[in-house]
Amino acid sequence: MKILIIGNGGREHAIAWKLAQSPQKPELFCAPGNAGIASIAQCHSDVAADDIAGQTRLATDLGVDLVVVGPEVPLALGVTDALVSAGIKVFGPDKNCSQLEASKSFTKSFLARHDIPTAGYKEYTDIAEIKKDVGIFGYPMVLKADGLAAGKGVVLAQNEAEALDAIDEMMGAKVFGSAGDLVVVEEYLTGVEASILCFVDGSAIIPMETAQDYKRIGDGDSGPNTGGMGTYSPSLVIDEALNERIDQEILQPTFAGFKKDGLDFHGVLFIGIMLTKDGPKVIEFNNRFGDPETQSVLPRMKADLLDVFLAVTEDKLSVTPIEWSNQCAVSVVLAAGGYPGDYHKGDKITGLDDAVADGETIVFHAGTKFDTDGDVVTAGGRVLCVTCLAASHEEAKEKAYNGVAKIHFDGAQFRTDIGTIRSTAK
Ligand code: AMP
Ligand code: GLY
Repeated sequence: MKILIIGNGGREHAIAWKLAQSPQKPELFCAPGNAGIASIAQCHSDVAADDIAGQTRLATDLGVDLVVVGPEVPLALGVTDALVSAGIKVFGPDKNCSQLEASKSFTKSFLARHDIPTAGYKEYTDIAEIKKDVGIFGYPMVLKADGLAAGKGVVLAQNEAEALDAIDEMMGAKVFGSAGDLVVVEEYLTGVEASILCFVDGSAIIPMETAQDYKRIGDGDSGPNTGGMGTYSPSLVIDEALNERIDQEILQPTFAGFKKDGLDFHGVLFIGIMLTKDGPKVIEFNNRFGDPETQSVLPRMKADLLDVFLAVTEDKLSVTPIEWSNQCAVSVVLAAGGYPGDYHKGDKITGLDDAVADGETIVFHAGTKFDTDGDVVTAGGRVLCVTCLAASHEEAKEKAYNGVAKIHFDGAQFRTDIGTIRSTAK
């Protein structure tokens, strides 16, 4: 069986790594891929993730049996629809379902229509009207550009001046382009955040093991937001009772809502949840695996990921058992100096072999490539993700940081508190 993975991050490396362990021994391809993925899959670095025609051509030319889509942009652009039209099976939702991530407004009306707990909200397309309503739900004022904005389209304005600035940027200067044509304003929720990743097909919604993401660049949740600086799994803030509540109040109504609305979802639904004092509430939907959640969650999966992917494409999830390991996972991201702002590229990375020499440490590559001398160099904001499994979170954390200590590149930055429980989210 031939499988093409679309994307080039740590998430896609984790997916390829897990598929490479399948007893079905699939032949793996990745486009564009990175230096780490290249050790287990044939990479086609000339085809960008969001080049829909190029990816469809590549999948057809390679004669692949299955395409797994990593990032949200190709999904929102309809890569699934294009591949399915070409007769290729795809793990990843179609363009219609992908609005659940690509449009905040689409998601808010879905949640409201199906009585799924979320923050109260109001939508604006007119800059004068939103300015008149500034602070409508109090402060911080939560402002969300409707469309995809590479994780930067949410502003939590602390006061009126910050809110007006954000409005001018989103709706006036259009810093997120047409993503800011519509802005959603929400009630501010307080509590601890958690990520629930679920496999979804026409037969079932099945949550994976829980994970906690650390979004801020600095220790103790300081500094600006990033794509995610580390994760651990299972979550220490979701117990069995809360899991049951999330299933009853969020997962099952979401699945029923998909059916009622004719949303034929096949892939991963990633639900960002705020655990408020009034119960769990949905902050956002993503329609793909999380990065770096995947790097903590997939190493804990005992099942054959290929079986699960195929089950999802055939609506057989409800009869496909998915077993998980009891071990804990901690994943620490190493980012380039300057990230999440402008960062340097092309720095040589050393210690990669040393880090994995114990046979237990896993180093997932994100922003890496080979330079002309064949050395692995930095090529993105988030560069690597070191994952370790152990019987306890503490032990997994210690092992992961031992691995991190062996890896070097100029300007490398990482948090030192990944795997440590936090009482509040920011
Ligand atoms: P999103 O892209 O919708 O996940 O938002 C990015 C981050 O902003 C979330 O992970 C939360 O930390 C924060 N956030 C979003 N919506 C709210 C809200 N209604 N109340 C409080 N924080 C929020
Ligand atoms: N770690 C958050 C995300 O993948 O969107």
